[in-house]
Amino acid sequence: MAASKRLLGVGKFWVAFWTVLLLASAYFVVESLVYVIYAASDPDVGPLSPRILSIYIHGALAIPLLFVAPLQFHPGFRKSYPQAHRWTGRVFLTTSILTAALAIVLALDYEFVGSRPALMIFGLLWIFFSACAWFCARHGDYAAHRAFMIRSVAVGFAFVWIRLLRVSQDWFFPFIEDPEMRTTVREFVCFIVPLLAVEIWLSYWPALKRAGRQRAQRHDLSQDVQML
Ligand code: HEM
Repeated sequence: MAASKRLLGVGKFWVAFWTVLLLASAYFVVESLVYVIYAASDPDVGPLSPRILSIYIHGALAIPLLFVAPLQFHPGFRKSYPQAHRWTGRVFLTTSILTAALAIVLALDYEFVGSRPALMIFGLLWIFFSACAWFCARHGDYAAHRAFMIRSVAVGFAFVWIRLLRVSQDWFFPFIEDPEMRTTVREFVCFIVPLLAVEIWLSYWPALKRAGRQRAQRHDLSQDVQML
């Protein structure tokens, strides 16, 4: 890629992409802190109830993930400091798996029952993608490792989009009035849309491009045969 199209060692698109993700994460962190302070000050809940304690742990594990991800994806960082990539990666993957496991535990008694399946399925998927990424890195398949890390991060960041969509839901879902239905729809949308976008990028689009190339090759071949 031409030097003019690069910034901080990556394409401008990726700089813009990670800037949006980091700003959204910062919003998520502030909003989560406000939520925890509010919930902990509720006399029926209390600051040391098991639910609030699991939220503290979940947040303490999840927040660094949001800010470390861009570093792990940075090609210059991986190339210059492969050992740092490995060790930060090990911490990242362990924390992702623990955060996802806690998300599943929190989902078990989540107040909106319709959201429980979404949170559990995506918590399990987050664990699965992270474990696959680790397995592939250990066995030297770095292309598969990269793809599973992209899927893992897409699921992890869904928790950020859920919060952002909550503040804009009147705009997106004016036709859904029931608050529980809105929460459930929001949660499924925030997980499924990023995962589908990632699969289009990683699998569907390359498959279509391959099929297009094969079609063009067959077409060229049949023209060559006709000319003989
Ligand atoms: C958040 C994103 C990522 C995380 C958490 C992560 C995690 C890891 C871990 C844990 C290892 C070491 C495995 C082991 O030996 O135990 C590793 C190695 C490696 N990863 Fe990643 N990874 C990420 C993104 C990427 C991406 C996007 C690529 C691009 C291809 C990549 C390429 C590599 C390579 C080449 C190694 C071997 C490094 C070496 O030579 O020592 N990783 N990664």
